[in-house]
Amino acid sequence: MRKMLLWAGLFLLLHVQLGSSYKLVCYFTNWSQYRPDLGKYMPGNIDPQLCTHLVYAFATMNEHKIAPYEWNDDVLYKQFNDLKKTNSKLVTLLAIGGWNFGTQKFTDMVATSGNRSIFIKSVITYLRQNNFDGIDLDFEYPGSRGSPPEDKQRFTILIQEMLAAFNEEARSSGLPRLLITAAVSAGKGTIDSGYEIAKIGQLLDFISVMTYDFHGGWDPQSGHNSPLCQGSTDHGDLIYFNTHFAMNYWKNGGVPAEKLLIGFPTYGRTFRNPNPNNCDVGIPMSGAGSAGTYTREAGFWAYYEICPWLNGATVKWIGDQRVPYACKGNEWIGYDNQQSYECKVKFLKQSGFGGAMVWAIDLDDFHGTICNQGRYPLINHLKGLLEGSSVNCPGDVCGGDIGTPPTPGTTTTTASPGGGTTPAPPVTPPPDPPVGDVDANFCAGKADGLHVNLLNSNKFYICSGGVTYVMQCAAGLVFDKGCNCCNWP
Ligand SMILES: *[C@@H]1O[C@H](CO)[C@@H](O)[C@H](O)[C@H]1NC(C)=O
Ligand SMILES: *[C@@H]1O[C@H](CO)[C@@H](O)[C@H](O)[C@H]1NC(C)=O
Repeated sequence: MRKMLLWAGLFLLLHVQLGSSYKLVCYFTNWSQYRPDLGKYMPGNIDPQLCTHLVYAFATMNEHKIAPYEWNDDVLYKQFNDLKKTNSKLVTLLAIGGWNFGTQKFTDMVATSGNRSIFIKSVITYLRQNNFDGIDLDFEYPGSRGSPPEDKQRFTILIQEMLAAFNEEARSSGLPRLLITAAVSAGKGTIDSGYEIAKIGQLLDFISVMTYDFHGGWDPQSGHNSPLCQGSTDHGDLIYFNTHFAMNYWKNGGVPAEKLLIGFPTYGRTFRNPNPNNCDVGIPMSGAGSAGTYTREAGFWAYYEICPWLNGATVKWIGDQRVPYACKGNEWIGYDNQQSYECKVKFLKQSGFGGAMVWAIDLDDFHGTICNQGRYPLINHLKGLLEGSSVNCPGDVCGGDIGTPPTPGTTTTTASPGGGTTPAPPVTPPPDPPVGDVDANFCAGKADGLHVNLLNSNKFYICSGGVTYVMQCAAGLVFDKGCNCCNWP
C-alpha cells in the first residue's frame, strides 16, 4: 500500500513537472541575422522558455564531414546553446541540409559505408564540441531532385549506423545519447520515392513533417500554403496537398503517432493576382507575389509582414480547409493565424501526434510590436494550446465546411465568398475523366517545370527532378502553356 502511494505521488510529481508532454520544436535560420532593421534576428532574440526544442538551420557538409555555412556560425552556436543555461530543459539540435543544399553531397556520402562513417564520426565530434543535443537530418530529398532511387534505402542505413554509433558514444562518454531526428517531405510523391516510412519511424527520435509549401507562386492557380484539409475544388493529385493527408500518410505508413510532429508555418505564400476583382481559391494566378520588406523573397511573407498588410485587405476563411487567406490589389496570400493554429492543434490532439514543429521562430512577430498580439503571437498561442488551454475550432476535423469562425486578432472585414466579378468556375466538379489520360512516368528525362498534358487539356504535369506530379486545373479551365497557368478555354 505504502509503495503504491509512493508511486502515485511520484507519478503526480512527474506529471506536474513535465507539464505538457507535447513537443514544440522551433527552427532558427542562420540567414535571419541578415534581415534589415526590425527583421534582423539573432539567437539573443530567442525566448528560451518558448519552445521545448530549438533547431539551428542549417549546417552543410564538406568531404562528407558536417561543416558550418556562415563565417560566424560557431559564435551563433554558442549563443544558441547558452540558452540552455536559462532553461535547463531546453533541447537543441543542429539541422543539416535544407533546400539550397541540394542532393549531390548527400548522395556521395550515403553511397558507401566508408563515406557514411566519415560523416557519422564528424557529426559526433561536432555536436559535442558545440554543445548540441542531437542532429536533425533535412536532406531534401532522398530519391528526388537528382538523388537516385537507391538513396531511399541508403537513407535508412545511414540512420541505422548513426544510431548505433550514437549509442556507442553515449556508453563510452557517459553522456545522454545524441538525438537523431528528421524533417521530411509532406508530398506524397516525394515521400514514396524518399523514405522507408516504417523503418525510419522505428529509428528516429521524432519526425517533423513539413506540412507547408503545398501551394505557392509556382502554381498556376491560387491555393493555400498550408491547408489543414482537402479543399472542395481539389481533384486528382491535389487531394494529397494538405496537412491532414500528409500526417495520416506518415502515420498509416507505420510511424508511431507520438513520434510525428505537424509543421506549423509562421509565414504565408503570396501570388500575383492578375484580376484584383476576383479573390477566390483556385483561380488563375500569374506567379509569385511581391517580396516582403524584411524577408526579401518573392512570394514569401513573414507573419509580421502579413499583419500590417491585412489592414484594408479582404480577409476570407477557407471553410473546408480551415485556414485564412486575403487579397488586396494584385496580391493574394494564404497564411496561418491563431485561428488556423487552433484547428491544427485539434487535429494534432485527436490523432495523438507528438507535437508541433514551427518554421520558423524568426518569422513570427517576435518583437510583439507589429501585430499587437504580444510577443511571438503565433508560437505563444500554439504553446498555450499544447499546454492545455481550450481549443476552439468548431466542427469535426476536416468534416465538411465550418464556415467562418470568429478570427481572433484581426480587425479586417470578412467578405462573403465568391464576391468577384469574373464568373467563378462551376462548384460541382465534372466526373473524373478516365485515368488513361495521365502518364505516371511522364517526367522521366524531362526538364523541371510545368508541362502540357496532350491527352487532357484540363490536366497538366509538374516535373521536379524527374518525378511526375499530375495536376488538374479547376473545373472548366484548361492548362495554358503561354502563361503557365490555368485559363478559360
Ligand atoms: C545559411 O544556410 C543556408 C542553407 O540553407 C545557406 O545556403 C546559406 O549560405 C547560409 N547563409 C545565408 C546568408 O543564407
Ligand atoms: C566516397 O567518397 C570519396 C571521397 O570523397 C568519393 O571520391 C567517392 O565518390 C564517394 N563514393 C561514392 C560511391 O560516391
